[in-house]
Amino acid sequence: MASVLRSARARAPAHAVTLAKVARWSAASRQPGPVSSSLRLVAPSRSYATETEPVAASPIPPKDAPKKSRLAQVGKFFWRLTYGSALIGLGYLAYGIYEDRHPVDQKPPDPSKKTLVVLGSGWGSVSLLKKIDTENYNVVVVSPRNFFLFTPLLPSCTTGTIEHRSIMEPLRNILRHKTASVTFYEAECTKVDPVNRVLTLRDNSEIKGDIAETSLPFDYLVIGVGAQNTTFGIPGVQENACFLKEIADAQKIRTRIMDCIETATFKDQTDEERKRLLHMVVVGGGPTGVEFAGELQDFFEEDLRKWVPEIADDFHVSLVEALPNVLPMFSKQLINYTEKTFKDEKINIHTKTMVKKVDEKTIFAEVTKPDGTKDMIEMPYGLLVWATGNAPRPVVRDLMSKIPDQAKARRGLEVNDYLVVNGTEGIWALGDCAATKYAPTAQVATQQGQYLARLFNTMAKTQALEEDIAHLEELGHATASPDDKKAIATEIEAKAKTLRRSKRLMPFQYTHQGSLAYIGSDKAIADLTFGDGNNLTSSGQMTYLFWRSAYVSMCFSTRNKMLVIMDWLKVKMFGRDVSRE
Ligand code: FAD
Ligand code: NAI
Repeated sequence: MASVLRSARARAPAHAVTLAKVARWSAASRQPGPVSSSLRLVAPSRSYATETEPVAASPIPPKDAPKKSRLAQVGKFFWRLTYGSALIGLGYLAYGIYEDRHPVDQKPPDPSKKTLVVLGSGWGSVSLLKKIDTENYNVVVVSPRNFFLFTPLLPSCTTGTIEHRSIMEPLRNILRHKTASVTFYEAECTKVDPVNRVLTLRDNSEIKGDIAETSLPFDYLVIGVGAQNTTFGIPGVQENACFLKEIADAQKIRTRIMDCIETATFKDQTDEERKRLLHMVVVGGGPTGVEFAGELQDFFEEDLRKWVPEIADDFHVSLVEALPNVLPMFSKQLINYTEKTFKDEKINIHTKTMVKKVDEKTIFAEVTKPDGTKDMIEMPYGLLVWATGNAPRPVVRDLMSKIPDQAKARRGLEVNDYLVVNGTEGIWALGDCAATKYAPTAQVATQQGQYLARLFNTMAKTQALEEDIAHLEELGHATASPDDKKAIATEIEAKAKTLRRSKRLMPFQYTHQGSLAYIGSDKAIADLTFGDGNNLTSSGQMTYLFWRSAYVSMCFSTRNKMLVIMDWLKVKMFGRDVSRE
């Protein structure tokens, strides 16, 4: 460092000489010649203009000159501000990308620490993993999916508005950025033994090694396995419907849409069959069903109608809902707006219509008429997307059956205010697999994950404090000096105070920030909550811009954000791809 400074000082005179040379040169270049000395005084920087504009030679500047220069100054200021902000933004982006791509070395896992197993790689588990200090535990993650999926943009993948890889974030990348390394097993947990504290894991992937099933002991367990689609046991649904929960579901829907279209336009296809194949039915008027119906109608209006004009008269999207209206969790005003928008977009809404049976080509549903009487109707379909909500996964049902305190649980694992699974010790549940008073949303799962991370960090701190206090107490007993005893007692009191404070952990509390949904034709709805439970509803195209910016900012990484923006731009420029994968 010193040598660098010395060489900098040594270089300084040369630099000064250079500056002096420049100064002499510029002075020489401003030698008076034909220009008067007064001009040189008032407008030296405009000397090049004086050759052609004699008026500039006047010592009195034109009347509007100061006004202009103030305007110019303001313009210059804003230009610099924009330029500066763009540079800072670019720098920030570059730093984000650099950080993402260059993880630092991690501390190895410490098996002497308590083993914390986290099941799942969804919203709940990943938000826990992001915030937890992995140095305090031997953390192991188990999930059949080695990536995090940004579900709010999943409906856009069904039509190719967004490519599926744009909303996937590899779990390995997430875990590699933790201070102490985390072990990951791509496997499904099939059984939880809460008494012997051991899990059964199975490799369900296509390629299996000699060992495809094994066990994993744990000290602490966090269950974040989400939920599966419910069919309410309605005959034919599982066999004939598509669902919309995972990436593979979206890919299957995308393929089926194009398959239906190509089959409908097959040579000599009958009119009736053609109409059936082009009838796309969505069952469930919750946000999943509504967002998918909107995306599908957009695909038809913006691309299919243009590239496959022969289907234009027969392509129809229908939304079937058992309740009197769609989106029951949104305010009445937004429900009306959505239903009106759907009507304008020519999406058929069948409310008070409960599907009872499905076969390969037809949906059988019971319609409640305005007079209360019921009628059975038949709906031929080409594509059926089933979005009627959640049911517990088999591993969760199996665990519920083993715990007497869970005998009454139906929707998922019942937990206490601290998210501990009722009837267990050291087992927590979060997200869609936990039955709480909150809706099963990403927002709830994320906040629960953050809460549990805080809880585990606090638990580790508490343990360390307890060990310190025990050690100090031993020292206090061993020492004979009254002064030392006094000093130790003071230190113990201070640590005990911190310990009492950190043990006072608050129960989990959810803060609802609002709900957003895309409803097609560049419109979205928003039910926002702010302050002390104040509500603000908004709908339309501006809300759609808000929807877009909110979801881009929530995407997991800089890479995801950029890919999603690029996908949107790509679709705006070239339209969606209508080839079948
Ligand atoms: P998930 O995110 O589903 O993650 C579960 C994880 O567990 C997965 O990684 C899975 O592979 C893994 N897993 C499954 N079985 C096992 C097993 N046996 N062993 C180990 N791991 C297992 N919510 C919102 O708030 N806003 C939205 O805009 C929104 N949009 C949505 C759009 C769609 C299409 C869908 C389907 C849902 C949407 N949601 C939205 C709801 C939100 O996605 C869920 O509430 C959220 O994913 C729940 O998080 P989770 O961690 O509990 O489960
Ligand atoms: P949901 O539970 O919200 O809605 C399912 C709908 O299907 C209900 O309205 C129900 O009445 C209807 N239904 C059930 N059985 C039926 C039958 N046999 N025939 C006709 N209709 C039937 O389910 P969804 O949309 O899958 O959402 C699951 C969770 O994910 C919810 O908590 C939701 O809030 C959340 N989510 C949130 C989104 C957002 O905020 N934008 C987007 C997607 C999901």
